[in-house]
Amino acid sequence: MTGAAHARIELAAWRHNLAVARRAAGGARVMAAIKADGYGHGLVQAARAMSGADGFAVARMEEAVALRNEGFAHRIVLLEGVFSSEHVRAAQSRRLDLVVHDPAQLPLLSAADPARPLTVWLKIDSGMHRLGFTPDEVPGAADALAGMPAVARPLGLLTHLANADARDGEVTALQLAAFARGSDGLDGVRSIANSAGLLGFPETRADWVRPGIMLYGVSPFVGGRAAEEDLRPVMTFGSELIAIKPLRRGDAVGYGGTWQLERDSRIGVVAAGYGDGYPRHAPTGTPVLVNGRRVPLVGRVSMDMLSVDLGPEATDEVGDPVVLWGDGLAVEEVAESAGTIAYELLCCVTRRVPRVYI
Ligand SMILES: Cc1ncc(COP(=O)(O)O)c(C=O)c1O
Repeated sequence: MTGAAHARIELAAWRHNLAVARRAAGGARVMAAIKADGYGHGLVQAARAMSGADGFAVARMEEAVALRNEGFAHRIVLLEGVFSSEHVRAAQSRRLDLVVHDPAQLPLLSAADPARPLTVWLKIDSGMHRLGFTPDEVPGAADALAGMPAVARPLGLLTHLANADARDGEVTALQLAAFARGSDGLDGVRSIANSAGLLGFPETRADWVRPGIMLYGVSPFVGGRAAEEDLRPVMTFGSELIAIKPLRRGDAVGYGGTWQLERDSRIGVVAAGYGDGYPRHAPTGTPVLVNGRRVPLVGRVSMDMLSVDLGPEATDEVGDPVVLWGDGLAVEEVAESAGTIAYELLCCVTRRVPRVYI
């Protein structure tokens, strides 16, 4: 018994999910999104387990550098590009692909050393209105980049889908049309699809797909479940019972006493709380697995603990295993109960939780 939360990470599930992505991709190449520390699973471990991918996508320079330092020779794309001349030099010396999405990034590239040309992806804002040049701005940006000796040609062309997760075919079609308009007449590979695009809209596959969440065994669709897409959860966030309290009807549990027993029952205390990344706002009734049985979370989640109602006849004991999400309990369901998305739950598992790679 450890009396602490842990995250079991199944390498075989990663490989399986990558194979699902590759099948769905058809002939397109697969760039695995492993940003945010591999969606909370471990950056380097994610890259190792999915080394069969054609490339990796990260958000921060530090992540790209860490991958090169570990010896990965894959194409590595910095999704947000560079913001300083130091970053440009680091990208050149480590052969990183850069996304260019804003006019402020152009002078940095125009001043770069021409001896080591950079692979650049021009990001087109096809309607999400987060990063990228509008279709009308693309020709100017593409011309500017074409005149820079440190930028390799042709440019890659990339956009991001805003509503594919809601299976919104109308918005997705508008985005595809805007992307086609912006990229019209330009050579170079195209990349559009995230996980939801890849699984839900085959017309978004283009030359490179960029799946993220599906590789971790999570459905990318609102209200969806991994099993519907033949995906296997990679992370099982688990812990143990560290106390069992026989309580009486009317007793209040936890900070604020926000939940009271309606009948005598046995209340289990689980060693997992918001200090481990379990969402504090998960309400009473959020499912938890104890000895493989679904029981409800009750009362407020504390920093290191949460309570569950084991039921009056429960025979569970201190030290018995608890699953907070993962194997047997979909992280999607816990996220829905907590009013968030699985991405956030996975990314927010804190550093004190040991990742155990199996
Ligand atoms: C630009 C870009 N591409 C791909 C992805 C992967 O998306 P998903 O995890 O939904 O598959 C992300 C993630 O947010 C992203 O920002």
